[in-house]
Amino acid sequence: STIYLKDYKVPPFLIDKTELTFDLDETTTVVTSRLHMRRNPASGKSTEPLVLDGGEDVKLIGLAMDDYALPPEEYRISEGKLIITATADEFVLTCETLIEPQNNTRLEGLYRSSSMFCTQCEAEGFRHITYYLDRPDVMSVFTTTIIADEARYPVMLSNGNQVEKGKTEEGKTFVVWHDPFPKPAYLFALVAGDLAVKNDSFVTQSEREVTLQIFTEPHNLDKVDYAMEALKRSMRWDEEAYGREYDLDIFMIVAVDDFNMGAMENKGLNIFNSSCLLASPETTTDDSYLRVEAIVAHEYFHNWSGNRVTCRDWFQLSLKEGFTVFRDQTFSADMHSEIVKRVEDVSFLRTAQFAEDAGPMSHPVRPASFIEISNFYTLTIYEKGAEIVRMVHTLLGAEKFRAGSDLYFDRHDGQAVTCDDFITAMQDSSGVDLTLFKRWYSQAGTPVVTATDEFDSASGTYRLTMKQQTPATKNQPTTLPLHIPVRVGLLDTSGKVLTSALSGSTSEEHVLHLNSSEQTFEFTGLTSKPVPSLLRGFSAPVKLHYDYSTSDLLLLMSSDTDGFNRWSAAQQIAVNELTMLINQSIAGESLSLESQLVKGFKALLSDESLDPAMVALILTLPSQAYLSELANPIHPAAIKEARQYLKTLLANALSGEFELLYNKHNIQGEYQATAEDIAHRSLKNTALSYWVETNSDQAHQATFEQFRTANNMTDQFSALSIAVHSNNAKATDMLAAFYEQWKAEPLVVNKWLMLSASQDSSDAVASVKALMEHTAFDLKNPNKVRSVLGGFGQSISGFHNEDGSGYHFLADQIILLNSRNPQIASRLCTPLTRWKKMEAKRSEKMKAELERILAQDLSKDVYEVVSKSLA
Ligand code: ARG
Ligand code: ZN
Repeated sequence: STIYLKDYKVPPFLIDKTELTFDLDETTTVVTSRLHMRRNPASGKSTEPLVLDGGEDVKLIGLAMDDYALPPEEYRISEGKLIITATADEFVLTCETLIEPQNNTRLEGLYRSSSMFCTQCEAEGFRHITYYLDRPDVMSVFTTTIIADEARYPVMLSNGNQVEKGKTEEGKTFVVWHDPFPKPAYLFALVAGDLAVKNDSFVTQSEREVTLQIFTEPHNLDKVDYAMEALKRSMRWDEEAYGREYDLDIFMIVAVDDFNMGAMENKGLNIFNSSCLLASPETTTDDSYLRVEAIVAHEYFHNWSGNRVTCRDWFQLSLKEGFTVFRDQTFSADMHSEIVKRVEDVSFLRTAQFAEDAGPMSHPVRPASFIEISNFYTLTIYEKGAEIVRMVHTLLGAEKFRAGSDLYFDRHDGQAVTCDDFITAMQDSSGVDLTLFKRWYSQAGTPVVTATDEFDSASGTYRLTMKQQTPATKNQPTTLPLHIPVRVGLLDTSGKVLTSALSGSTSEEHVLHLNSSEQTFEFTGLTSKPVPSLLRGFSAPVKLHYDYSTSDLLLLMSSDTDGFNRWSAAQQIAVNELTMLINQSIAGESLSLESQLVKGFKALLSDESLDPAMVALILTLPSQAYLSELANPIHPAAIKEARQYLKTLLANALSGEFELLYNKHNIQGEYQATAEDIAHRSLKNTALSYWVETNSDQAHQATFEQFRTANNMTDQFSALSIAVHSNNAKATDMLAAFYEQWKAEPLVVNKWLMLSASQDSSDAVASVKALMEHTAFDLKNPNKVRSVLGGFGQSISGFHNEDGSGYHFLADQIILLNSRNPQIASRLCTPLTRWKKMEAKRSEKMKAELERILAQDLSKDVYEVVSKSLA
């Protein structure tokens, strides 16, 4: 049951108005819908039957057309769809369904979390509530009536404005919500529960006052202040950066504990995973603070990029997600440090999205087909999609990009459109030809750009030749050149940035348009062969190869004016050295290395001008995951050994420096989530993670003291993780004390679960099984499942145990979750799908587990991922 983009047809019917009534109850909930429908004039087919989407969990108890009850012979239900053969051209369809939110473990549609009712309708959850045209190009004006017992559900929310409240004849309470903006069903939301609220307000650019409300369970109300401030910053920023003003009189956010993803942009009523909304200094790390701010912004920004202008079909998902991620990345950069944010985003993209693009689920940013759309909420759609928008920004420049964005919103307000429409608006307003550029949307895989160069001293000309190649795969046997913007600067050997001329323009930096498989660029006005600083700011999502010497890299690391490339150069030195060590380990040799990073780090630490956050990032060695992405085949134990070796080597060579650094950045005082304070904590804890590798008692003692006395979760949890991963004698006691201290705070307990599960011991499977028996664990809660199984995935001798026990254990959990929560089960498959890149022994064991899963009766979600990875 594969669905193809090429088969897209406009909907045969439209729904102008949708009136919903929910009679909420702990056992059965009755949903009544009145759909004001008509044939779509654009469809041209006047005989087509009406086919409504539904699900096996929806029980039809009444159906009428224009108040004439339809007898069973006038409709049928087949494979979850409700089919009505004969209809008028315009009619009101009334449909009564019965659902059981309390038994909804998929967390799609209407379900219960703690004591409340809540919804998640994107992408196709609405069909689990009632029969509907559940597709994003059917936009309707919704009026929603909620009926419930007010004693248990004093708060009853839906999209738009509350227009009425009263009592039913049975003494229940009803409230009516009306949303004047037409929207697809995936943006519908409903919440009912005994919730506490924080109220605030925001005055828009045009001086309209908007009521802001954040709802949580009462015990969490003290953790929403940061999200509220982040919301107000987002609202202001979208006015200033994009000219986008909020459009309703009220904006609400609700936090729920059980949620499959991060958060959801339902019109006027965002629903958040509580882990992405709640924050307090004692319980939340700096990373999580920044995440809360970014996700609050992301969901808010969707009000324009997603809601006012939405997607025609789900193949266009990146239209809203890629653009909105780009918007939230730029927002965070403006709020904090641009370079730090860029390094973090690129590091994530190169690690996780590149791995996805090289794996069996590789797909273009606009996929051509899918079996289950939930599987396509991917790093490719989100992160690579954002890189495409960023490249458009680079190609047009800030001003023309803004004009293009204005035209896009203006031209398509209230419409459901495509990625092509977005690019066309950018092109029309700027005059920049993006015809070839659009290929980024349809071609999968990470392009490899290889650069070589030569210098002609007689003419002072530097020639840079670049080739590009996107790897072919079975699904994509031929690949074509892309339009790749490459930002370039040139340095002399003393580290000075040079001015050069390229096709008539003289500058310290040039944007090269690489748009064929091989091109040579000529820079003139030079006196000696420069060191090129290539792909500055990571101007395109590609793998760049250039044969840098270590001294070139050390030069870029210390002197490049592009902060991103300083980091990138340091990473490259580390990757080169780690690769040597990994090869020694695979060959069974004892590891040895004379590390050039010692010199590089010394210079780095003596440069007082640098942002401590940047220093921390440069000091951070490439992760196990990034080195796995680069390797082929992957030897997990060798990578781990190499990283450990290099880290210890650097720690011993620079032990005095790390101790000093630790003390210098050990700021005290009241916690603040400002860029400046976050930077100090980040560098301090990075320094500590090196210092403990010297195995000095002093370092271990400092770790323990930090754990014991910290006034914030960043410092406490950093100390705990460092203790656990450095065999601190007190680590076991510290873990136990941490749980005791925080057992009443589920979000902190999740961190404890993750850290506990990530411990690297050969009986890790037994430990993780014990964790899943612990009272702190709950299989129904996606955050807890992710913590334990995500943590376990990081345990090299546990998950990647050569005997295959780790893979077997994960497969058991996937099979268990497959029927309960297909979305979560499907995501858990990811590590196993990388089996082809793994060294032979482990590869075979992973494959066997995938085959065992495939032999089960599977959900569409798990079936798609597992079958594609075995194909
Ligand atoms: N649109 C949401 C966001 O990116 C993601 C929701 C996806 N949920 C899902 N179950 N597929 O902000
Ligand atoms: Zn989004």
